[in-house]
Amino acid sequence: MDFETRAIHEGQEPDPATGAVTVPIYQTSTYVQDAVGEHKGFDYSRTANPTRRALEICLASLESAEYGFGFSSGMGATTTVMHLVAPGDRIVAVNDVYGGTYRLFSKVYGPKGYEFEFAGHDDVAGAIDERTRLVWIESPTNPLLNVVDIRAVADAAHAAGAVVAVDNTFATPYLQRPLELGADIVVHSTTKYLGGHSDLVGGFAATNDPTVAERLAFLQNSLGAVPGPFDSWLVLRGLKTLALRMQRHCENARAVAEFLTGRAEVEQVFYPGLPGHPGHEIAARQMSDFGGMVSFLAASVEEAEGLVARTKIWKLAESLGGVESLIEVPYAMTHASTSDAPFAAPENLVRLSVGIESVDDLVADLEAALVRSAATA
Ligand SMILES: Cc1ncc(COP(=O)(O)O)c(C=O)c1O
Repeated sequence: MDFETRAIHEGQEPDPATGAVTVPIYQTSTYVQDAVGEHKGFDYSRTANPTRRALEICLASLESAEYGFGFSSGMGATTTVMHLVAPGDRIVAVNDVYGGTYRLFSKVYGPKGYEFEFAGHDDVAGAIDERTRLVWIESPTNPLLNVVDIRAVADAAHAAGAVVAVDNTFATPYLQRPLELGADIVVHSTTKYLGGHSDLVGGFAATNDPTVAERLAFLQNSLGAVPGPFDSWLVLRGLKTLALRMQRHCENARAVAEFLTGRAEVEQVFYPGLPGHPGHEIAARQMSDFGGMVSFLAASVEEAEGLVARTKIWKLAESLGGVESLIEVPYAMTHASTSDAPFAAPENLVRLSVGIESVDDLVADLEAALVRSAATA
């Protein structure tokens, strides 16, 4: 079945007890047993829950994965995957990662003896050596929209015996499927496009490697960063419209990036869909479209901060991937935890999560804020 059909039906047979067409929210912590160990496949909801199971089956299918695991947040998924490696192991990560991921790596795992090397988006493959156990990448990256060649990184990692994890939050499986490109593990913050409505926090990891899957299942249950049934259900509902939403996100983002490219108030626009973007060709090869995130450099920090406070439809807020458009300054907001790193986000960078509203309204709102920004400069 095609992607759009699986997004609606995979793992979601009508409820055998009642015929309910949508998967019920099994809001229960435990399950009755007829005798010791005699149950219907569920004994405790940290270990397994039918609503979470439906999500895991559906989203694994969308990522072309055999095995999928739900988590309470994107960071819960990342933390769990990090337990595949041990203190003393060398981990190569792209340096333009989500600020929370950088914080986890550098401030939680680094002091425990994990050895991190943060490499530029073009230097990840070259930074891998025979001591590397895990390679962690995002593509497109957050917040600079750099593109990492996933197949080239996977080839270099496998030659060194390392495992590759790709945070696919920005692209979603509708636009990019890292496991098909050679990655071993795909990770998500389902908080973003997969949920799609800014009404939950969740995470996910998937793989085709049975040994990795067995370990992740053990870790998911042992560490316990699992999503509740209602949040699992919200993500499941979000997935049903993922394809449609992503088409509109991409369409609107392209128009916004083109609009910004022509503006005197804007120093530089970052969007992999622009032919002049350095990662455009790789993105065109490994993605089916270029996504809904756009970043740009305002003329100064003051201009950036003034602009984001003036837009009306674009809400000044952290996060991304919802139906509504959001605007923010990564240096002071989502990426404040990288501000002490040599690769901190530029202070005058503005990040846009382009929503699915009327693109004319979105452009008009940005234009008004830019004009007033120039007038007050
Ligand atoms: C690319 C990326 N990965 C991971 C995360 C962390 O996800 P969560 O906030 O669901 O823990 C985020 C959050 O902004 C993100 O943008």
